Formats: sequence, C-alpha cells, structure tokens
Amino acid sequence: MHNPQLNADGELQHLLTLEGLPAEIIGRILDTAVPFVSIAERDVKKVPLLRGKAVFNLFFENSTRTRTTFEIAAKRLSADVINLNIGVSSTAKGETLLDTIDNLVAMNADMFIVRHGQSGAPHLIAQHLSATNRSHIHVVNAGDGRHGHPTQGLLDLFTIRHYKRHFRELTVAIVGDVLHSRVARSLIHGLTTLGTPEVRVIGPQTLLPTAVAALGVHVFHDMRQGLAGCDVVVMLRLQSERMKGSLLPSAGEFFKHYGLTVEKLKLAKPDAIVMHPGPMNRGVEIDSAVADGTHSVILPQVTFGIAVRMAVMSILAGN
Ligand code: CP
Repeated sequence: MHNPQLNADGELQHLLTLEGLPAEIIGRILDTAVPFVSIAERDVKKVPLLRGKAVFNLFFENSTRTRTTFEIAAKRLSADVINLNIGVSSTAKGETLLDTIDNLVAMNADMFIVRHGQSGAPHLIAQHLSATNRSHIHVVNAGDGRHGHPTQGLLDLFTIRHYKRHFRELTVAIVGDVLHSRVARSLIHGLTTLGTPEVRVIGPQTLLPTAVAALGVHVFHDMRQGLAGCDVVVMLRLQSERMKGSLLPSAGEFFKHYGLTVEKLKLAKPDAIVMHPGPMNRGVEIDSAVADGTHSVILPQVTFGIAVRMAVMSILAGN
C-alpha cells in the first residue's frame, strides 16, 4: 500500500505518523540525530542545512517542549522560522485550515510544523498540497488529536537507544492514560517496528484502548506485575481535558494504583530508566522523588528532541 509520507522514490516527503514507517527510515533519522546532539556544545550552534528555507510553526494546541524545540532545531539548521500566533490569527475570524495553508504557501513556505486538536489535520494538509501540485512543501505532524506524535516517538526511541543501546533485548512499559495518548501510539509503532520483544501497556481498563493488544503489546492492569523486570518505564500524563465523563474515581485513587513511586520502581530492573513526554502531573502519575531521581531521563528527552527534530527537518528539506 502507498505510504502518503513517502515519495515515489521511497524517500521521506512528510512526517505524519510512525505507523508503517520503515525501520530503515527510522534508523536513518536516529543516526542523523547523533552528530546534531554535539552542536549544542559549540560556540556557534548552527549548520547551514536549511539556509534560505522558511519553516512555519502552526500550533493550534498548547505546547511548551515541541514548539520550542522545533523552533530551536530550525534555527540551528539556519532556517527562517515563522511562529504563527494562532490566538491572534484569522483562524479566530473563521478562516479554514486549508485557506490558512494556501495563504502561507503564497508567502513561500517550505515546511509546516503542525499541531492540531483534530486527528488527521496534518494528513489533510499534506493531501491538499499534493492535490494542488505543491508536494515539494513538507508537513511534519507535531501532535494531532489522539492519533500520533511522531517526533515525540522518535525522540523517545533516540533516548532509549542512547541509554540502552539495543531494542532487541528490551522490556518497555508504557503506563497510565494510553487511551488519550498520541505519544503512546507513536512509541508503540516505533518500538515494534524496531523489534522490541516486549512492549507492555499498564493502566485501568477505562484508560486503555479496546483493541490495544492488536498493536503488538501485552496488557497489564496491575502495575506491580507490569513493572516487573522492565528496562524502560514510560509514564504518561493523565489527560483530564480529553476525558468525556468520569473514567476514574479520582486523581488520588489513580496515583495509588498507577502512580510511579520509588517503591514501585524497585520492581523494574535496577538500571531501569524512567521517561515522561511532559507536561508532568506530579503526584498524579509520577512522584517527584522519581521524576527528579537518578533513574529519570525526562530532561535529557527534551534535549534530544532538538537533535531529533533537526534530523527530521534536514532529511526532509536539507540542502
Ligand atoms: N511532549 C509534548 O508534546 O510536550 P508539549 O505539549 O509541551 O509540546
């Protein structure tokens, strides 16, 4: 089946999802990111790979890490970065998403970084560009609804590979509100594509998608059983704003059963790493003693996100 994010030569044209993205392309992105990590240590933190290119950040939903690290990444690649302030844009006057895109294309955009509350919005933009013979303009999904967050998945994979080297011997647990998590979906696709033998999801029945096992994961409702022997523990934010109706008795009850504490973390391997995509709800899904503890690689994830986003943008549009 044709993958809409690849061109006729099988090269990456857009980054819309990790589902179905070949392992070679994921590996190439991760390998390309490695030398970009050290650029942060130079006096001049810039390379000219995107010189002369215009990158538009279109964030229709809130963001701290993704929007900022995309901007830093594009600037380190020497691109011109335009942050559309959606709050004061003509979106508020009823302009459609595709009309906004057409107007920004008229300003000679080369790449759109898109976060949107509607699943599929970045796909829609990519389709529109293709249908109007403007496929040379790239689209990167920076998180769409519950669907996917491919660059977060990639930076999570980069972090895991950095600390654990090989995917083929790992047990990875993803804990909490998987139902609403685009981060979890992207990471599951990436881990399974790269051959991780044991990917677990841990959470209450109400916060796990009904067909989650079909993604190739093992389902646990008991956190202590699920954490046993894990190399990597990925905690997810409880996304109260996406919940329709009450899926949980209370945040306190959730923490009691699914919050990661120092005591529960002892069930994982002694050298296990703890990850979280952010933003964190301390005392809801993770205790501060773990978030700030020696197993935590939560802030390195953010730093690696810059290098990974540089890799994605340079592969898409690099000179
Ligand atoms: N991980 C993540 O997407 O964080 P932001 O919402 O702050 O971008």
